[in-house]
Formats: sequence, structure tokens, C-alpha cells
Amino acid sequence: MPKPLSAETIACVKATAPAVAAVAPQITKAMYGRLFQDAHIKALFNHANQATGKQHHALAGAIVAYAQNIENLEVLGPAVERMAQKHIGYNILPEHYPYVAKALLGAIGDVLGEAATDEVLAAWGEAYWFLADLLKDREQAIRDEIEAASGGWTGWRPFVVAEKTVESTLITSFVLRPVDGGKVLRHKPGQYLTFRLDTPDRGEIKRHYSISNAPNDEAYRISVKREDGGQGGSRFLHDLVEVGTVLETTPPAGEFFLPQAPERPVVLLSGGVGLTPMVAMLETIAQRHPQLETAFVHGALDGPSHAMDGHVRALAKAHGKTSVATFYARPAANDEAGRTHDHDGLITVDWLKANTPFEAADFFLCGPRPFLKAFVGGLSRAGVASERIHYEFFGPADEALAV
Ligand SMILES: Cc1cc2nc3c(=O)[nH]c(=O)nc-3n(C[C@H](O)[C@H](O)[C@H](O)COP(=O)(O)OP(=O)(O)OC[C@H]3O[C@@H](n4cnc5c(N)ncnc54)[C@H](O)[C@@H]3O)c2cc1C
Ligand code: HEM
Repeated sequence: MPKPLSAETIACVKATAPAVAAVAPQITKAMYGRLFQDAHIKALFNHANQATGKQHHALAGAIVAYAQNIENLEVLGPAVERMAQKHIGYNILPEHYPYVAKALLGAIGDVLGEAATDEVLAAWGEAYWFLADLLKDREQAIRDEIEAASGGWTGWRPFVVAEKTVESTLITSFVLRPVDGGKVLRHKPGQYLTFRLDTPDRGEIKRHYSISNAPNDEAYRISVKREDGGQGGSRFLHDLVEVGTVLETTPPAGEFFLPQAPERPVVLLSGGVGLTPMVAMLETIAQRHPQLETAFVHGALDGPSHAMDGHVRALAKAHGKTSVATFYARPAANDEAGRTHDHDGLITVDWLKANTPFEAADFFLCGPRPFLKAFVGGLSRAGVASERIHYEFFGPADEALAV
């Protein structure tokens, strides 16, 4: 635990937090301007998020949340864990922190002008390093744990694509084995890999993909939805990556996972490609938790885009205590409820109440933003305690439940 902040620092950060919050996006933007003057620091980032401005919001949000909770920092616990896990994925190291400190304080000076007195800058500097030390300590502990584990590694490790399987019109899976022939780290089911993809048109871009198989010593599988717009990470994987292609990834990361010894029934609730971490969890449940009551509830657009249904149903059958329900929002001509899927339309909280172990279960959720907003809010309004609601979002955390 870093040295506690002094009373003067807390008072000064508290007093200036509203002014900083009011211009946080500008400060973060100015900060990135300064930070990216260093090419080796710029290369650490994910340039698609930079292009859409998403990361600006994520870091601005973190700074504001931090300043506003300066007297009550324990509320940041889960956010610190998520940031630390993200940083592990991007291979952020202790030596990178001074660059952000310098850029952040410079940016506060740029935007606040005369209001950024020496005292204000010193207080924000101290506050930054408090949070930075928390993150660095946690990140070191995660790295130590990964390195000590069988199959663990640091930094970027090359993997060869051993299988490429079309799962639906939108989703294709890739099985990855380490080029060095060694073991892989057994991930926690629900965690993701971070890839640096060397794309021909956009250069190097970094993308996360949830691991869609149960932990084992040999291989990871990822299942990727093709997105037509954007920077093309998913198009690159679909169109240009074949069996034999080598891809580089950092070790599995993420704080969204099935506990090692689940204590309550489980509802795995997904929309679209959000099913990938759920399939990893379901495989794990089928292998290791024969007594665990499980409901796999999935919403897809239609039959042609629906992935891995046969696999999910086979796992459920083998497990014996798993129920599966699929909903199609816009069934295709050949789709028929009762034959190709279970229900037309959207999953609802009322349906979950009536058909899953609602009162007792841990809910694991992953899907597009409207899906997450509907269920994180809906479950909690229906009385599900927040510690029973776990969710992953396939973008920066602060966007998941944003308006
Ligand atoms: C923890 C985590 C796990 C993930 N797991 C998976 C997974 O298992 N499977 C999976 O398929 N994906 C997963 N993702 C998402 C994945 O990382 C990529 O975001 C996704 O593949 C899209 O990347 P892309 O480069 O193809 O498109 P991007 O460049 O990221 O664009 C994505 C979408 O944003 C839109 N967009 C981009 N730029 C702009 C702009 N300037 N203005 C407006 N719209 C814009 C595009 O039109 C496109 O539809 C995960 C993400 C996270 C954070
Ligand atoms: C106290 C210091 C820091 C804070 C508060 C912070 C905060 C954050 C937050 C909130 C996110 C988004 C997490 C999410 O999507 O859920 C993030 C991601 C990230 N951070 Fe940091 N960070 C800090 C230091 C650093 C440093 C020193 C670097 C490297 C120079 C760095 C590089 C990154 C990268 C590359 C990402 C992922 C970006 C993306 O999604 O495009 N961070 N950080």
C-alpha cells in the first residue's frame, strides 16, 4: 500500500476536483498530445480507441472518479483491478508511469492556466503517484503470479493458428498454439487475450478477444465477430489470418471470470458475440462442476448469425444440470421457434425470473451496450444484489453503461 496522502494534498485535490472535472476531457486530450510525442509510448496504446475518443473518456473518467473519492479510496477497488488487468494486457510496465505523470501535469497546466499553481500541481502530482503506486503494486503482483504459474509468460508470445472454424455468418473461431511448443497458462474462464495485429492497411493495432474454451495446458480458442466498419482488426482475422499464421499475445487478463469454486447456481447471459466468455465458462462447468445448476441464456439476431449452438447444447446435455434457452430478435425465413431456437424476440427480466434460479444465482453477463444496460439495471431493480451481477463489456469500461 503506498504512503497515505497528506491532509494538505487531500484538501487541495478536493478543492480543485470540480474545476478539473469540468475540463477533464480537454485535460486528457492535451495529456495524450504530450504523451504521444514519445513514439515508444504511443506504440503502447490502442489506436482505434484513440481515434474514436473512447480512451480519452476512460482515462478522464478514472481521474474524475479518483479525485471525487479522494477521501474514500476503497470504493476504487474494483476499478483499480480492471485498470491493472487492462495494463497487463497492454504490457504496461513501471517505467512507463513517469511519462504519464509528466504529460498529465503538463496538460493540467495547459488547460487550467493560472489556476494551476505550484501547490495545485504538487497536490495532483502526489495524488497521481498514489494511484500509480497502487496500480504498479497490483500489476507486479499479477505479473509475479503469471510468471510463477505453469505455462506463464511475460510480454508478447507468438502463437500459431492451428485451426480456423467458421461458426456462423458473422463469427469465426481460431485455435492458437504456442510457437515455442511449451505449455500455455491456464486462464480463468471469462478472461481475454490481447493481440497486437500487424495489419497491412492500418499497421499495428491491439485488440482483446475473450478466450472461448476451458483452461487447458495446450491451446486457446478465440471466436471473433466480423465488424464491417472500424480499423479492421476483426476483418484482418477473418480475411487474412489462416491456419499457419503467427499472432502475438500477452498472457490472459481480466477480472471477469467464473470463480474457481462456484458457491451459487450460475446464469450465463449473453447477446451476440458476447457468448464467447460464456462458452469458456460452460465448458469449465461441464468439466469440473457436475453439480452446479447452470442456465445458459443467449440472444442472437437470427439462425444464420447464431454461433456455437450445437457445441453449447452438447455441453449442456453432457453436464446434465444445465438448461439452454436461445432467443432470436429477428428470425430469418428458415428459423422456427421450437426447432431452430427456443423463443422469438428479446430476453426479458421477467422471463429470467420465471425460468432461471433467479433468487440464488450469480449472473454473468456479456453483450452489446444496450443489452448490458437493460440487464445490469433490470436485474438490480428486480432485487439481484450487485455482488451477484458480473459483467464484461467489449470496449472501455466507462462506456458499458453510459447513456
Ligand atoms: C475485454 C474484451 C473482450 C473482447 N472479446 C471479444 C470476443 O471474444 N470476440 C469479438 O469478436 N470481439 C471481442 N472484443 C472486441 C474486439 O476487441 C474488437 O473491438 C472488435 O473485434 C472490433 O475490432 P475492429 O478492429 O474490427 O473494429 P474497430 O475499429 O474496433 O471498430 C468497431 C466498431 O466501431 C465502429 N467505429 C470505429 N471507429 C469509429 C468512429 N471513428 N466513429 C464511429 N464508429 C466507429 C466501427 O464501425 C465498428 O463497427 C472484445 C473486447 C474487449 C474489450
Ligand atoms: C495512475 C495512472 C493511470 C491510470 C489512472 C490509468 C487508467 C486507465 C483506464 C481507466 C483505462 C481503461 C480501462 C478499461 O477500458 O476498462 C486504462 C487503459 C489503458 N492504459 Fe492506463 N492508466 C494509468 C497509467 C497508464 C500508463 C503509465 C500507461 C502507459 C504509458 C497506460 C496505458 C494504458 C493503455 C494502453 C490502456 C488501454 C487503452 C485502450 O483501451 O485503448 N496507462 N488506463
